[in-house]
Amino acid sequence: MATAAASQAAALRWEVEDGVAVLVLDVPGRPVNVLSPELTREFERALERLARREDGVRAAVLLSGKPGVWIAGADIDLFRTLTRPEEAEALSRHAQELMNRLAALPVPLVAAIEGVALGGGLELALACSYRVAADTPKTRLGLPEVQLGLLPGAGGTQRLPRLIGVRSALDLMLTGRQLDPRRASKLGLVDEVVPAPILRRIAVQRARELADGQRAPHLPRERGSPVAWERVPGAVALVLRQARAQVVRQTKGHYPAPLRILEVVGRTWNRPLAEGLREEARAFGALAVTPESRALVHIFFASNRAKEDPPLPPGVRAPTVQRMMVVGAGFMGAGIAAVSAQNGIRVRLKDVNAEALGRGLRTARQLLEAYAQRRRLPRWERTKLFDRLQPTLRYNGLRHAELVVEAVFEDVELKRHVFRELEAAAAPTTVLASNTSTIPIARLAEAVQRPERVIGLHFFSPVERMPLVEVIVPSTAAPAAVALGHRYVKAIGKTPIRVADRPGFYVNRILGPYVQEALLLLESGVPIEAIDAAAVAWGLPVGPITLLDEVGLDVAQKSGEILRQAFGDRGAASDALARLMADGRLGRKNGRGFFRYEAGKRRGVDAEVYRLLGVQPGAAPPTPELQDRLVLPLLNEAVRALEEGVIDSPDVGDIGAVFGFGFPPFRGGPFWHLDQVGLSTVVARLEELTRRFGRRFEPTALLRAKAERGERFYA
Ligand code: CAA
Repeated sequence: MATAAASQAAALRWEVEDGVAVLVLDVPGRPVNVLSPELTREFERALERLARREDGVRAAVLLSGKPGVWIAGADIDLFRTLTRPEEAEALSRHAQELMNRLAALPVPLVAAIEGVALGGGLELALACSYRVAADTPKTRLGLPEVQLGLLPGAGGTQRLPRLIGVRSALDLMLTGRQLDPRRASKLGLVDEVVPAPILRRIAVQRARELADGQRAPHLPRERGSPVAWERVPGAVALVLRQARAQVVRQTKGHYPAPLRILEVVGRTWNRPLAEGLREEARAFGALAVTPESRALVHIFFASNRAKEDPPLPPGVRAPTVQRMMVVGAGFMGAGIAAVSAQNGIRVRLKDVNAEALGRGLRTARQLLEAYAQRRRLPRWERTKLFDRLQPTLRYNGLRHAELVVEAVFEDVELKRHVFRELEAAAAPTTVLASNTSTIPIARLAEAVQRPERVIGLHFFSPVERMPLVEVIVPSTAAPAAVALGHRYVKAIGKTPIRVADRPGFYVNRILGPYVQEALLLLESGVPIEAIDAAAVAWGLPVGPITLLDEVGLDVAQKSGEILRQAFGDRGAASDALARLMADGRLGRKNGRGFFRYEAGKRRGVDAEVYRLLGVQPGAAPPTPELQDRLVLPLLNEAVRALEEGVIDSPDVGDIGAVFGFGFPPFRGGPFWHLDQVGLSTVVARLEELTRRFGRRFEPTALLRAKAERGERFYA
């Protein structure tokens, strides 16, 4: 039946099977298949061979030779070198032409998709005659360009609405959401979903059927939507208006890409394809050189760099975590246990009494349940998932665990006691990690006989949603323990950043001066609404006062106290939190904070707060001044963290801020943002604030030095 390869190309292999050319894509030397001008040339050669029906082929199938990846889109690296919109537009035109040639092939072409088909990858599939997807967890389809501040520039804004309708297409393009094969099939984005082992066979069979006219190709329309109701006059206009309102609500106008997507689709969905493609390329060109896109592309690469494993001394290995224990079944412990179990790790969740353990287990199981539903896991997978999470009141089984995460109450003596118990019960190689936000890891390492295996893993709450974990590295930690922690964080689908064991670590440390300044503003009579609104207008997800209520005043107070003890010599400090806590206010969790709560719902600011603090809310300074006072100390502190070696690169600092507390992604993180504003501008502004408000605004030495030398954080 099948025959051997007729010839070999660098990235695209040509094999022939039953009169069908099977093109196997495997870009050499790259972890994923990406589209590039070189690959386009190879595709063109293959298309010529197909057009000539070389080897007697009547149809073709496109498969990937890389497990887990079909095509990950255009090579994002190429976008970084673009400086002019015309260059970016040309790149888009070039990609569109390839897709046009694919779509115009005289023989049918079947996309046989196993692994991710993203961006330009999915756009390529849209230009094929038929799409079959393998039913594997890694198979996902989507147009994530919006997350890079771009729009699909290889025909996606045109072919997708013409294939699945405007509303569904907009949903995919505006969110960057990735679909599993079943959902993709429901939308008509793929024509068939098959088990992976028979993907090739079915694809070849379909290709033959298409060639023989036994099956009709599934192509995007030349113009207009395939969805009947969308062809009713005014229907698409309504869809566009609603989508636009939602985009404006969600992005507050900070992101140009989604608005441009709406504009292009709105103008072109019902026009001839060629016209639409021209609009698309123009818009792609304009977006590719926006500061927002550059910042988002920076975040993509910075997060990949943050994920790189730390170097290990020769001969040292860090095992992967297959079994672990989580000690302390509170809210954090339950979250950590659930997320770990979801990612294939066998977890024992331990607490000291049955009641606390029962509560934690229920919380963790609820999280697993939600996960199983979201993923629509079949019954046998659900059973396996729930089996991976086991409760225990003792340290039994700990000997087999590669990792323990301690998440007991935030008390140093209690934690030291737990660490001693853990050391006694665990194997000598088990890594012992604490999920503390305030206690120096060194204090815990001191408590055990082998401090080299102690690290910190600082999770953020709620664990199941927050994408960042700080891997805290005390000076005593062995490289293998750090590497294990780092790899574990990646294995549970989160981004690790390695941070030195200094007060506040990184994320809380840079939030400290920001929150502090918000309280000082409040104490000087600036209304709470004005403070929060200024931060939100700058692009932060919530304002600092809201953040305090969400985190809990007690938690924030404790964290603030640690920072004050460590760095308290920098001037004014607010004691507002202590005063509000004396009034029994803990924030949202007890329904009393800066805001009022009724049945769990937040109402307005609680005017009583002003009275307790002895201030009369008055007029607020202009928003830009409020923003400078809030944000510049945060940026300054990030630089100080770099200067003191708390983080080892601006990349880590940017990722920590964006993933840790939602520093506006379109600003690229503190260091990227500093570069954009210009270091000398920032220094001048900080100096002015120092003159007016005191030493806490003094620019840090590294910032000053770099500004004087005219340097940037990124070349
Ligand atoms: N371009 C360049 N490099 C890419 C890439 C791309 N599109 N996609 C992945 N890579 C690189 C990563 O940078 C990483 O490189 P290093 O190993 O050197 O760090 C490597 O491939 C592996 O990536 P991950 O570590 O992220 O691997 P993963 O298995 O966790 O995820 C993935 C794989 C799902 C493909 C993920 O990398 C991803 O989401 N990539 C981006 C996809 C994307 O945004 N595509 C749209 C591109 S824009 C476009 O296509 C425009 C257009 O319309 C023409």
